[in-house]
Amino acid sequence: MCGIVGYIGKGDATSVALDCLARLEYRGYDSAGIAVLNSKRLEVRKRPGKIKELIELIRQRPPHGHAAVCHSRWATHGEPSERNAHPHADCTGTLAVVHNGIIENYAELKERLLAEGHRFRSQTDTEIIVHLVEELAKRQPIETAFRLALKQLRGAYAVCLISAKEPHRLFGARNSSPLIVGIGDGEAFFASDVPAILSHTRRVVYLNDEEVVELTAGGPRLMTLDGKPVQRESTTVTWSLESARKGGYPHFMLKEIHEQPLAIEHTLANRLVGDTVRFDRRTTQFLDRLSDDEQLIIIACGTAYHAGLVGEYMLEELARIPVDVDLASEFRYRGSRLGRRTTVIAITQSGETADTLAGVKMAKTQGAKVLAICNVMSSSIAREADAVIYTHAGPEIAVASTKAYTSQLTVLALLTLYLAKKRKQLPAAQAKRFARGLAALPALLERALANEQAVKAVAAKYASARNFYYLGRRHNYPSALEGALKLKEICPLIHAEGYAAGEMKHGPISLIRKGWPVVFLATRSPVYEKIVSNIEEVRARKGECIVIASEGDDHIRCYADRLITVPQTDEFLSPIVTAIPLQLFAYHVAAANGCDIDQPPNLAKSVTVE
Ligand code: G6P
Repeated sequence: MCGIVGYIGKGDATSVALDCLARLEYRGYDSAGIAVLNSKRLEVRKRPGKIKELIELIRQRPPHGHAAVCHSRWATHGEPSERNAHPHADCTGTLAVVHNGIIENYAELKERLLAEGHRFRSQTDTEIIVHLVEELAKRQPIETAFRLALKQLRGAYAVCLISAKEPHRLFGARNSSPLIVGIGDGEAFFASDVPAILSHTRRVVYLNDEEVVELTAGGPRLMTLDGKPVQRESTTVTWSLESARKGGYPHFMLKEIHEQPLAIEHTLANRLVGDTVRFDRRTTQFLDRLSDDEQLIIIACGTAYHAGLVGEYMLEELARIPVDVDLASEFRYRGSRLGRRTTVIAITQSGETADTLAGVKMAKTQGAKVLAICNVMSSSIAREADAVIYTHAGPEIAVASTKAYTSQLTVLALLTLYLAKKRKQLPAAQAKRFARGLAALPALLERALANEQAVKAVAAKYASARNFYYLGRRHNYPSALEGALKLKEICPLIHAEGYAAGEMKHGPISLIRKGWPVVFLATRSPVYEKIVSNIEEVRARKGECIVIASEGDDHIRCYADRLITVPQTDEFLSPIVTAIPLQLFAYHVAAANGCDIDQPPNLAKSVTVE
């Protein structure tokens, strides 16, 4: 959601800043703009639509300078239009801001600023920031004015400010929305996320909430909202530039699907030795301090929530720990009473999802402990949590999460094995079997991927269908939800619904008629026969059954209109393997329909507003 870039330094600000902005396309947006500072003044260009349209506009009248702020906007307040696109300038065109987040008290601030004579051009909440700074800067230096303006805002912001009167400085700040600083050689950056600046530098400074930065080409100076200096070392990011490129694949999503064997290998590396699980010291201490009657609450959004649902089965059945799983957006408003014997596990790829972050903060306020399962190093949630287990899946760029999901499941399996052994809940033979299953995952995922052409052929057959059901039971009930979500995310033409197969008779079955495609998850498990009965029920109503089953299961052949096989694994790990054909199926249906797979309309990779 909303990408921000700020640049100051030796390069051509327009081209560097736009190059960085284009690398944030995956965040989801509907308009884009840039403000460039040349020797005399600010030049602002904006466009609804894609960044390439902004680049086209700029090619006609290119602004040149050494400093710029630019932005890709995901509309919240005001329709996607040129007027509402960022940057927003003050009345005189001397100042401009870009912003990600929502200013909740913007209406009252706007009323005051209008009464003071400011002229507003957009319908956005953002524009009040620049007028507020303009007003305050009448009486104090710009840096003080910026800080005082921020102190009046209620809500979330990552914001960058550029001023024609301050050609050698940019200003930035964050509160509950992501913003990082990149330090290059004679140049420095603001960005919403690391992939934006990877081709320029790997030296990053992560900001905390309510911190302000004065950025010069030499680097950042951090301070609090009260102007007190803050010392922070820079970190060197390990992600390679190549990992943030498509590498010959037509879409990031397909590349990331194929990266899963390697991603899981990285998730397991140094953590699984034989049937022993090791985490870093902080996580180990955290886990070893959990009480015998600890209550676990998993919170997450989207795909990460589905990972949490699978985790519930593993942790409850194998480690015998009671677990609740909640959507972060519900959890934060549920009014649950948490205490010292509650551990909240926040699952998140980005570590920036607004609702998950708010849930984490709420849990901490109530005295609960927080463990994060996160992909992005030093992200907001990783820094808020008491301990973090990183998924190490590498950058995930496509909006639809794939490798982050299977690596989250792998972490949950490691966590289960660790806690089950520690609590002596798992017979040694079963623990060994489970660990062997985990170690075999990368190879099994390779085999599942080798089946891509078969999945593609099934996708081609059903590409024109407009409604799908996905049905599963037990561990593969969340897989059904996830399979349907994948299709909905990347194929806006299609309605897909995931259901617990046992619930089919309580509603969904009434819609099934001739040709209605139903994807069944029917791998070997204690509920296999029940699923077969559900397949029969759909067949009896002339629905089309696409069945995902275990390799070597010949029995199921006669029930399936289309059969997709996956390698057999431990029942608890099967959602990691069944994820592959579900992802590939969604991908190839979307590709056959000509959908914008990596940037589906209206969706954002990182949902940084409520
Ligand atoms: C968005 C993304 C999904 C992701 C969800 C949660 O909806 O498009 O892919 O699963 O947010 O994001 P998180 O970063 O917290 O896992």
